[in-house]
Amino acid sequence: MRKLKWGMIGGGEGSQIGPAHRLGALADGHFSFAAGALDHRPEAGREYAQRLGIAADRAYGDWREMLEGERRRDDRIDLVTVATPNATHFEITKAFLKAGFNVLCEKPMTMTVEEGEEIVRVAKTTGRICAVNYCYSAYPMVRQARAMVRAGEIGKVRLVVTNFSHGHHGDATDADNPRVRWRYDPAMAGVSGQFADCGIHALHMACFICDDQVESLSADFASTISSRELEDDAMVNFRMSGGTVGRLWTSSVAIGRQHGFDIQVFGETGGFRWASEQPNQLVYTPVGGRTEIIEKGEAGLHPDAQRLSRVAIAHPEGFPLAVANIYCDLADAIRGEVRDCLPGAADGVRSMAAVHTAVASARDGGAWLDARPSIFR
Ligand code: NAI
Repeated sequence: MRKLKWGMIGGGEGSQIGPAHRLGALADGHFSFAAGALDHRPEAGREYAQRLGIAADRAYGDWREMLEGERRRDDRIDLVTVATPNATHFEITKAFLKAGFNVLCEKPMTMTVEEGEEIVRVAKTTGRICAVNYCYSAYPMVRQARAMVRAGEIGKVRLVVTNFSHGHHGDATDADNPRVRWRYDPAMAGVSGQFADCGIHALHMACFICDDQVESLSADFASTISSRELEDDAMVNFRMSGGTVGRLWTSSVAIGRQHGFDIQVFGETGGFRWASEQPNQLVYTPVGGRTEIIEKGEAGLHPDAQRLSRVAIAHPEGFPLAVANIYCDLADAIRGEVRDCLPGAADGVRSMAAVHTAVASARDGGAWLDARPSIFR
């Protein structure tokens, strides 16, 4: 099987998400790291790319140079990852899709719903893959949860409760630190702070596991550190198309919580719970029965969970391998297999619609509003 060629934009030295993409893309041998424009400083990006083993003529100074360089090559990259700051995602993703490249874009895919809808259209017209890195959905036991819902093992889902709440921006004396401050500044972060940053992971997870979509929502936003213009805490109630009731809490001031991402799904005949800090276990209770722990790697898992369990039972697989699972699905999809579990542009635009709806709702005292992007109404 031909090895696929992979390139990345952003994810330079010292970045938060760059290492997870490199580990993820290269973990299973599907891709080789062939090209990159890794840093907003051209020389630093070229130098770092070469240190990582990229040939000098494919270590680019910026993404436009990379687009021009790669589109001219017979051995052009098969996939580009966009791991730059949020406001640049739309322009870069659109340009690469239009030039015929497959793209994995970091979340949030765009800053506005209109941009998101445009990406959906461009991906459709060009026939290229546009995936979005909702990587938590690729943990094996999250795939197991989704497969159990699809197989009717907990019956119709009544209720989903999810939290993505950490305490890492809870220190008011650190609120002016430039690495923290920009996240709550509309000029840099857009219309939403914590909900757009972490809340959309939780919302995507709820939709992914329940195999359903958000139809309407009501939000309460708070800036608990008063110098912040954007919210650092949000409570969002939602309803899904199939009638499921949703509750979501996201916060960055929940001191004592670390990663703080968990989800509980309650159906008519059972319920389960999953937490990103114990990702190998799905805690399942059938109605009237005992609670049991379903463990990654054990016999009898659904195929999509089994396929992505690499190391033996009870050996931890962590975040970079969840990202690697996204790359495995991408490699399969590029080679022509159907992978409907891969988060895509439709998920990206649904998230954006939820963000803008939540902002409008919070400003309107928590009014219930239609949260669907117009292309899906
Ligand atoms: P960061 O600020 O740590 O790193 C950004 C990197 O992009 C830097 O190396 C910078 O030099 C480079 N860069 C900036 N502008 C560029 C440009 N125009 N061309 C080329 N390189 C450029 O940011 P971080 O935290 O790594 O976040 C990047 C993206 O990843 C964000 O959209 C963020 O939301 C997302 N993210 C996603 C996570 C997930 O769980 N899926 C987790 C963390 C971040």
